[in-house]
Amino acid sequence: MSERVGLFETLYTARALRRFKPDAISDDVLFQIMDAAIRAPSGQNAQDWRFIVVRETHAKQKLQEWSATPWLRYSARYVEHPELIDELPRSQRLSLRSVEHLVHHLAEAPAVIVVLGLKGRHSTPGGSAFPAVQNLLLAARGLGLAGSVFNFPLSHEPELREMLAVPDNNVIYCLLPIGYPTDKHGPLRRKPVRDVVYMDRFGERWGFAEDQPDEGWQARWIDN
Ligand SMILES: Cc1cc2nc3c(=O)[nH]c(=O)nc-3n(C[C@H](O)[C@H](O)[C@H](O)COP(=O)(O)O)c2cc1C
Repeated sequence: MSERVGLFETLYTARALRRFKPDAISDDVLFQIMDAAIRAPSGQNAQDWRFIVVRETHAKQKLQEWSATPWLRYSARYVEHPELIDELPRSQRLSLRSVEHLVHHLAEAPAVIVVLGLKGRHSTPGGSAFPAVQNLLLAARGLGLAGSVFNFPLSHEPELREMLAVPDNNVIYCLLPIGYPTDKHGPLRRKPVRDVVYMDRFGERWGFAEDQPDEGWQARWIDN
């Protein structure tokens, strides 16, 4: 039985986690996560999202293999100057390490969920897919699992499409490795409300937000 967390604690702690225990995800847990994902809104309630849950080892190994391409490009600067990693702020350093871990262990994630939608169906592509993605990640968090968007395998999109038999009229929006995390959930580091929310006009500061703490109100929801 997983711990019970309320809606706001879930929102404030569902950070991107990329290291997983080997524990499988049972079908009833997976069903609950997907059943929550498809409660999301979509334009005209089209629900043209489709999800492929990749559990098969060989397929996950291919996803892992393809992840190496963007990682090599991305990490090139650190290969030449590994000391740059140590100079990063702590949170960035840890997140870089967790990305590196996933690049080398993606095949061990119990499931990688590939999110699709009909090409040309909506005027704001993605707007009808990512609400379901967020529902999915929050539902996973609520059940003690975790995950994140991880699009590195999209660097080999033609091969990915062929392997998963994705029809040409579908866009691949993202991939979501999920599982039971070895790292802790939350808290989430974000720019404060005062810096990103304006009143009535772009750039107009919101007095009330100016007076709130930098980390917002997460302390109301998270037992540290
Ligand atoms: C559209 C989108 C694409 C992303 N692509 C990747 C990706 O390719 N690789 C990766 O490691 N993380 C990816 N992420 C995860 C973000 O890096 C992560 O959600 C963000 O840094 C916040 O992390 P936090 O919630 O742990 O603070 C993506 C997230 C989004 C929303």
